[in-house]
Amino acid sequence: MTQPELSTSSAASSEPAASSDFAPDTLIVETGRPQRAYGAAVNPPIDLSSTFVSAGDITASPYAYARFDTPAWTPFEEALGQLEHSALPGLVFGSGLAAISAVISLVPAGGTLIIPTHSYQGALSSAEQIAGRQNFDIVTVDISDTEAVIAALDEAGHARPGQVAADGAAASASAGEAGSPGMLWIESPTNPMLEVADVPALTTAAKDRGFLVSVDNTFATPLLQTPLDLGADIVVHSVTKYLAGHSDVVLGAVVTGSTALREDLHTERSMRGGIAGPFEVWLALRGLRTLAVRLDRAQANAHAIAERLAAHPTVVETRYPGLPGDPGHARAAAQMNGFGAIISFTVDSAEKATAIAEAVRLWTPATSLGGVESLIERRRRHPAEPATVPEGLIRLSVGIENLEDLWADLEAALA
Ligand SMILES: Cc1ncc(COP(=O)(O)O)c(C=O)c1O
Repeated sequence: MTQPELSTSSAASSEPAASSDFAPDTLIVETGRPQRAYGAAVNPPIDLSSTFVSAGDITASPYAYARFDTPAWTPFEEALGQLEHSALPGLVFGSGLAAISAVISLVPAGGTLIIPTHSYQGALSSAEQIAGRQNFDIVTVDISDTEAVIAALDEAGHARPGQVAADGAAASASAGEAGSPGMLWIESPTNPMLEVADVPALTTAAKDRGFLVSVDNTFATPLLQTPLDLGADIVVHSVTKYLAGHSDVVLGAVVTGSTALREDLHTERSMRGGIAGPFEVWLALRGLRTLAVRLDRAQANAHAIAERLAAHPTVVETRYPGLPGDPGHARAAAQMNGFGAIISFTVDSAEKATAIAEAVRLWTPATSLGGVESLIERRRRHPAEPATVPEGLIRLSVGIENLEDLWADLEAALA
């Protein structure tokens, strides 16, 4: 068999540029590739080994056993760490909720978790379960009401007098540390109400009071919002959504800039053991490559559809942070690089909302979001969705199809 002509040396064909030189939309294409050399693969392999050659001190080996760490995760974890502006790689989890549970498990017994009333309902349900077992309090807040969140932080801090560190920044080294009053959980924009939190103001207030701050960045993605730059300690993703982007993977991830927190979360992942499979992570990295173009197209579609919905007589209210009249518009414009591709709109009854979701022919009636295909869902069909979410609220995950095809289908369903 004739061999392809290879370089006489296995050295790199040319020195690849450092990832930090690139804009994020280049970074997602270039990062996490194997060492550049003639004949080398362009993409990382799907590494299926469950164990790795090692002897002596097992902690000294970069890979020893695939529940702890595997090369199957490394390219994606490094890419996500860079995208979220951390010097440390991210940590991939078996689902977004596994990542959320690991982070919430850091809240110490006797502490408080302050969490948006309208955070993703799975996060809230999971938090309630963990709080029951680990004996911490949960306070739900309207995350768009900065004064109310600060009042909740004050109250939770006062409930543990003497526990608030004088230096708030130092206090957030680990939520599990004695003396931490707990964690502020931010989701912005929220799912499904699309409320926008004042992330810099809330992270400052929380850290001044010794709270750890975690942000679910699923709706925005690191291309539209980098919470670590806005003062957060931990960023969480449902990779299932935009990052993987094709509705064919369930996966989650966490990124932090703190070595101590990363260690805590790594331990949490290794010891609970619900880890991600190599193929899923490979698919997520493959999907991540096109995030910028998918998001550009989906956002442009969403913006136009939101404007048309806002002018439609059947629609009672449209929430999309990109609309100038939206309550979250100014904040989103200040702290995000774009408004995302999720819209929530309300019609006057559950029956009408269900009929619309059943009438569409191009949009797919389904839960989840962030894939290339447009999805539509009446959110209160989930029993756990809070009663403050209107019965007639429909969440749209706008995809990358042709705008006029999408609108024609939705308009016909509205009629
Ligand atoms: C904002 C948000 N965070 C987290 C999750 C949970 O992610 P997963 O379904 O990957 O466990 C979801 C799922 O819908 C979500 O919308």
